[in-house]
Order: sequence, then structure tokens, then C-alpha cells
Amino acid sequence: MSQTTASQVRAEDPVASIERALRRAAAEVLNLEAGSIDPHVRPAQNPQFGDFQANLAMPLAKQAGLKPRDLAQQLVDAAADDLAAVVEPPEVAGPGFINLRLKPDVLAAAVESIDNNRLGIEPDPQASPIAIDLCGVNVAKQMHVGHLRSTIIGDGLARVFERRGRTVLRQNHLGDWGLPIAMVLHQLRAAGVDLDRLELTDLDRAYRDAQLAGKADSKGLEAADRLHAGPHRVAELEAQNASAAEAMEAARMTLVKLQQGDPELVADWQKLIDCTMRAVEEMLELLNVHMTAEHNRGESFYRDRLADVVDAFVREGISEEDEGALVVRFDDRDRPLLIRKSDGGFLYATTDLAAVRYRTQELGASRVIYVVDARQRDHFRDVFDAARRIGWDVTPDGTPVELVHVPFGAVLGTDKRPLKTRSGENVTLMSLLNEAVERGTSEVKRRAADPEAPTHDMTADELDAIGRAVGIGAVKYADMSNDLVRDYVFDMDRMIAFEGNTGPYIQYAHARINSIFQRGGIDPAALADGPLMMTEPAEKQLALALLRYGATIEQVASTLEPHRLCSYLYELANTYSAFYQQCPVLKAEREDVRMSRLRLCDLTRRVIADGLDLLGIDAPPRM
Ligand code: ARG
Repeated sequence: MSQTTASQVRAEDPVASIERALRRAAAEVLNLEAGSIDPHVRPAQNPQFGDFQANLAMPLAKQAGLKPRDLAQQLVDAAADDLAAVVEPPEVAGPGFINLRLKPDVLAAAVESIDNNRLGIEPDPQASPIAIDLCGVNVAKQMHVGHLRSTIIGDGLARVFERRGRTVLRQNHLGDWGLPIAMVLHQLRAAGVDLDRLELTDLDRAYRDAQLAGKADSKGLEAADRLHAGPHRVAELEAQNASAAEAMEAARMTLVKLQQGDPELVADWQKLIDCTMRAVEEMLELLNVHMTAEHNRGESFYRDRLADVVDAFVREGISEEDEGALVVRFDDRDRPLLIRKSDGGFLYATTDLAAVRYRTQELGASRVIYVVDARQRDHFRDVFDAARRIGWDVTPDGTPVELVHVPFGAVLGTDKRPLKTRSGENVTLMSLLNEAVERGTSEVKRRAADPEAPTHDMTADELDAIGRAVGIGAVKYADMSNDLVRDYVFDMDRMIAFEGNTGPYIQYAHARINSIFQRGGIDPAALADGPLMMTEPAEKQLALALLRYGATIEQVASTLEPHRLCSYLYELANTYSAFYQQCPVLKAEREDVRMSRLRLCDLTRRVIADGLDLLGIDAPPRM
């Protein structure tokens, strides 16, 4: 099924048609698997010989012990029928190159076919929803920079699926249940903090205090003993240990009461959640992420399902007892998966198993994508394998489920160490974003000061809005433009630059195309039925780049690699730049050429804006 759609998509891209035809021919002539053949189609070095060159005959002939030129001719003959729709009769040259020249109208017809709202993106025929586990902030703690990645990558992937017509269920697996939050709750109640006036900073402080209060300084005690620190110091530490045990005990009691549904505690707990979520929502809005409270499916959501999940494993005989605890064992690893502690408590993994069941069995998701820190790789491997063992990898209507972890690396400071503030604390997401917005805004304002700038007449508010889009766009683009698992250095100077593979560069390319229409006083909508002709090499290159958009989006959806979209946009912006340098647009020598080039500009502008939107990045019309 997905095979046919893939070929339909690519039928619009002549390069893909050529590749398919040559692959099929080589498979037939040499009796090979078509999928294993690289047709080596490259842009021609010299336009005199055509538009492309296919170089597959040389390596294949070597393998098969044939003469490359003979094989090239056989391939051309075998592919003749398939190629006829796209290229003039091919020529074999040199040691066995196949020179290909596009038929005059092929590119124009292909560009015409994507010049609509879809821009060449084919709908995904699968009807089942896709669940995406993203964000996953922990309640009562500041949203950490690590959660930035989960949120924006998860939202980016979600937008790509949605663009292809899939239903996406965003699942914010909040850390809102368990001992840490009970410790904070206990701490706040003991300190008599007014929970109706709670601020995030109160939560932060309570979290630190609770951690401190609960931490027995046993190392300190040993050291004090060993170093004969004196009776006072030892007594102090002993007291601290006793009170730590007490604090932990009190927190545990709070947790038990919370889990039993004590109404007063539950109401107070809700206030902590509300306070955290207010801050998180503010940030999601600044980040231009499509996620709100309706997407919250925190750990607490699963609290009444945990016992049942564990029962299911017991019933199916998949789990076993281990010193009072319950574990799932795997043949290929020593590490068992703990699903119930010996004191009867449930774990992070139990909650994740409940979440897999909910997403696949209740929501019917056939793909569940976890955008979570690479350090949780083993956790997900175990959870997924356990879920497969019990059969939650098939939806109730029999559709197989793909459970995937999309791991991402750490964010490093320019010193290549995990990002810290000068005072050595973890950097909060909000402080990073604020800095990005400031930097973006000052750059936009600096440029607007130039009387020639298209933004020169804009109000401070308008410039602020553009600055925000640039700053946030810079951060998001930098986060998604590399291989996700690699750690990356958070280098604000680099990511905010208007040059290079950056968000602002792509945004700026878009704004510059817009300004052509402004300068020319042209309404792009009026071009709709205008002529399209690609004769100059730079026009052809731009058309071919535009035609790759649909396949790129399809690849991002299948590989879950947003950096492919970034690279595509960067390449498109560069190809456009070359076109703009080589082909006058407003001053084109003929009216039909001018119209055709304006259409190419307009389509480029729309593809860039659409691509940026899929990355969750705004494209300001002027910059
Ligand atoms: N709250 C977790 C953390 O901060 C992330 C949750 C990831 N999602 C999940 N289904 N486990 O580490």
C-alpha cells in the first residue's frame, strides 16, 4: 500500500521517475534486486550534454564483468519506454555515462502539479492515529532545557504527520505523581505556604528544601567521625540524619494519603500542578508549540490503572517474583524490568506500561513515538519489549503497532559541558528563551535602523514580534538541524546569525522573496494561470529543488529525522539565491519570462513558509 503512494508522490519529480526507470532496467538486465541499485543520477556538469548524467553503468559493469558502454546502451534500451515520458532519447557517452535531457514541458508540468495547497505533499493513507510522547516536564520543578528538545522535536514531528493528514495525539507525560512531588507537597504544607498564591519560585525553593531535608548526610557523618570533627559536629550531623529520616517518612505518609485520594491533599496537589502548568503553558505559547492542557496525560492519569497492568502481567505469566518484588525478565539481557516494588509500590516503568496500553488499546494508535532523552534508551527498550510480550503491540482492530523511541542528545554550553549558568545552576528554559528573544529583537531593530530596510517604517511592537519570531526560530532550528542523538553546543551567536544553516537565514530568504512582490506591486494570486517555463539552468535547478519538497516530508515522516527538512530548506534557499543572481526577475527581458520567474519565486516563498511552519517556526513577511 505505502509502495504505491510513494511512487505516486515521486511521479511528480522527474528525477525520481528517471531513477525508477533506470533501477528497473538494471534489475531486468542484470537480474538484480531493484531496491539495491543506486542509479547515480547527478546534475550534468555541462548543460550542453543535457540536464543529468546517470553513472550507474560503470560500477555495475565492473561487478558483472561487462563493458560499461555496452551495459549503458542495454540499460538505455531497457528503460526506453519508461524514460520516454520524461526525457529526450538518452545518449551514451565517454566510458559509459548516460546523458539525459528533460523534455521541454516536463518540468513545467511537474511544477504546475505542485502549485497548490499541498505543494507536492501526498496524504498518508493510514487512518489510525499516531501518539507522540513529548515535553514530559516534572511538576513542581522548572521546565529544564532538556525538556525543550522533547517539546519542539515532538511538536515538529506532529506537524509533519498532520500535514500529511494523520491524526496526532500529543501526550504530555508529566511527572506529576510519586515521591518527589509528595516531598514538595509536604514541605509546602509544613512551611505553611499559601497554596493559592503559589509561584514557580516557591515550588523551586520547596523542591530544593525538600531534597535537602530528605537527604541524610551519612557521608558527612562518616567523615566527621573519621576526622574527629568533635562532638558538636557529629551530634549535628546525627540530628540531621534523624530529621532526614523523619522528613522522608512524612513525605511517604503524604504520598500514601495522596494515593488513597485524601480530598484535602488532592486539592493541594492540584494547586501545585496548576502553578507549574501556568508557567509551562506560557512557555509553550512563546515556543509556538501546538500543545495545551488538553494534551496532559501525566503519570497521575494512570494511577488507577497500575494495579490492573501489573495483574495482567501476572495473569499472563510474564512476570515473576523476585524477593517480594515483581519483575519481567528478558532472554537477551541480565537487567530485569521492575514493575512492582516489594512494598507494593509501582514504578516509572509501570506507569509507562499503562501508557502503552492506553495509547494502543484505548486510543488505537498504530505508531507511538517517544521523544525522550537518549539516557532513557534502556528504559524504553525494556518497556517496549514487555509491552510486546503481552500483546499491546497490536491495536484492537488488528493493526500492528510501532513503538519507537526517538532519543536525543544533551545540550552543551560553549565549554562543551552540560549547560550551566555562571552560578553553576542548571539553565532554565525560560532564561534561554528570553535571551534568544532579546538577541533576535536587537538584531531586527539594528537592521530596521537602515532607511533602506523594508522594516524601517515599522512600529516598535511590530519589530518586537519579528524579533521574537527570529529568536525563537533560531533556537528551534538549531535544535532540529542536526542529527538528534548528537549532543549539541548551545551557541547563541551562531544560531542567531543571518548567514549559514540557521533559522534566521531561512526566514530572511523568505522575507526577501516577499519583498520582490512588494517592490513590484504584484499580487501573487494574480499569477496563478500565468506561464511557467524553465530554460535557464538556474531555473531548472530551482524547479527541481521545489519538486523534492513532497518526498522530503515523506522521508521526515518515515525516518523521524527533522534535520532532513532543515537541510532541504537550506538547500532550497541557496538554490533560490543562485537563481536570483543569475536570472533577473522584475527586470526580466520578456513579460512571459518575468511572469514565469515570479511564479517560481512565489512557489519558493510558499514552500519555505510551509517548511518552517512544519518546524513550528514563524516566517515573518518582512525582516
Ligand atoms: N518526566 C520524565 C523526565 O523528565 C520524562 C517523561 C518521558 N515520557 C515517558 N513516557 N516516560 O525524565
